[in-house]
Amino acid sequence: MTDSTLHIAVIMDGNGRWAQAAGLPRSAGHERAHLSVESTVTAALENGVTHLSLFAFSSENWNRPESEVALLMQPERWLVTEHEVESYRQRNVQVAFLGDLNDPRIPATCSHWLRTVEEHTTTHNPQLRVTVAFNYGGRQEIAEAARLCGTKTRLGAQEDFHQHMWSAHLPDIDLLIRTSGEHRISNFMLWSLWYAELIFTDTLWPDFRAIHFSRALTEYRMRHRRYGTLSG
Ligand code: IPE
Ligand code: IPE
Ligand code: MG
Repeated sequence: MTDSTLHIAVIMDGNGRWAQAAGLPRSAGHERAHLSVESTVTAALENGVTHLSLFAFSSENWNRPESEVALLMQPERWLVTEHEVESYRQRNVQVAFLGDLNDPRIPATCSHWLRTVEEHTTTHNPQLRVTVAFNYGGRQEIAEAARLCGTKTRLGAQEDFHQHMWSAHLPDIDLLIRTSGEHRISNFMLWSLWYAELIFTDTLWPDFRAIHFSRALTEYRMRHRRYGTLSG
């Protein structure tokens, strides 16, 4: 990929703890998450970001209580509302989903909504490409690529292998932000994160706004990336 791309990824964590701190059920934290997504998208547009990848639902999140999973399987209630889809479309923001979207555990209403969001925001020359990782696992993505790859590619050729990944169309991640004070990757985009800069903030996702995103970008711009060399 060319240097003209800027790919920021976010692990949107802390919805449950935000709600608990406010004396509310965990669902109240999830139901505010879309406001933080919208504010982050706006900040990304204002800061010249070309790719924004957001972790919304991991392969392991199925292991949560049934009622919580049921809410998370209604992304129009907590992730991207109908009103926001239209606002993204008007601002030339293209939204696409990444993960095992054919999993039979995903309710038909949810699959339908994901498709609607993608179709409604598809555009020829987007100003910002938002990728929402949904039913996504980094190991699953690599294992699936290995299965598809089979023996067809040159042994050990990283580029050939990458072409078989769900995220083949995305540039490497430049910066990963994780909210809520946790310092881990939690099976997010393991391949694309290879030389990403990492920023961890204690802010809980429902409190995260454009100002936090802009501050993280300012910090990122002061980092020296070396990719194993002695320059940078
Ligand atoms: C992140 O918030 C959202 C999802 C994983 C869907 P959490 O639900 O993990 O919130 P905490 O980490 O329990 O506070
Ligand atoms: C990571 O958060 C997944 C998403 C933000 C969707 P989790 O809350 O599931 O991660 P762990 O369990 O704390 O590592
Ligand atoms: Mg969490």
